Amino acid sequence: MAKIGIFYGSTSGVTEEIAEKIQAEIGEENCDLYSMEEDFDSYDDLLEYDYLLLGCSTWGAGEVQNDWREPLFDLEVEKPDFSGKTIALFGPGDCTGHGKHFVGALGILYDQFKALGANVVGAVSADGYTFEKSTAIRDGRFVGLPLDEVNESEQTDQRIADWLALLKPDFPALAA
Ligand SMILES: Cc1cc2nc3c(=O)[nH]c(=O)nc-3n(C[C@H](O)[C@H](O)[C@H](O)COP(=O)(O)O)c2cc1C
Repeated sequence: MAKIGIFYGSTSGVTEEIAEKIQAEIGEENCDLYSMEEDFDSYDDLLEYDYLLLGCSTWGAGEVQNDWREPLFDLEVEKPDFSGKTIALFGPGDCTGHGKHFVGALGILYDQFKALGANVVGAVSADGYTFEKSTAIRDGRFVGLPLDEVNESEQTDQRIADWLALLKPDFPALAA
């Protein structure tokens, strides 16, 4: 069964905790977990996997978490081929304190990996989220799974469970 690579960038540990939860849900035997800060060397690490879950929190005003900056820059410059790769995105934000840029990082990752040929799946309805603006929305849906540990942490477990169920047809390891 094709293993999933989970790669996450996390400044204050929130995305890390979420990534670990997702790994626990999927089962350690079905996925490998990479911290962008500690484990990531180059985009070749990503290319090892045909199935990827990428986690990134949003900082600044709708920007990606720091550890993703350089990798995304390298991807933009060198344009490796991600066609044949299936990718789903997740990331926490703050829908009230930063509601004008809610989970903008997901939109940035989406655009980049789509441009490299990846099949990016796992879009989530914006219904049920309260925010002012987000650049992570395409055709009325978030391009990945937004989470909010600041205001809506009680919804996180259910949101993850629903999202993993949604991903099943695209990730063979989830159907196991
Ligand atoms: C200075 C600062 C800027 C932030 N900017 C945004 C933002 O633009 N959009 C958003 O949705 N959340 C924003 N957040 C909220 C973080 O994304 C949120 O706290 C997240 O859980 C942090 O995850 P991490 O610890 O994995 O990096 C910001 C938080 C801080 C402290």
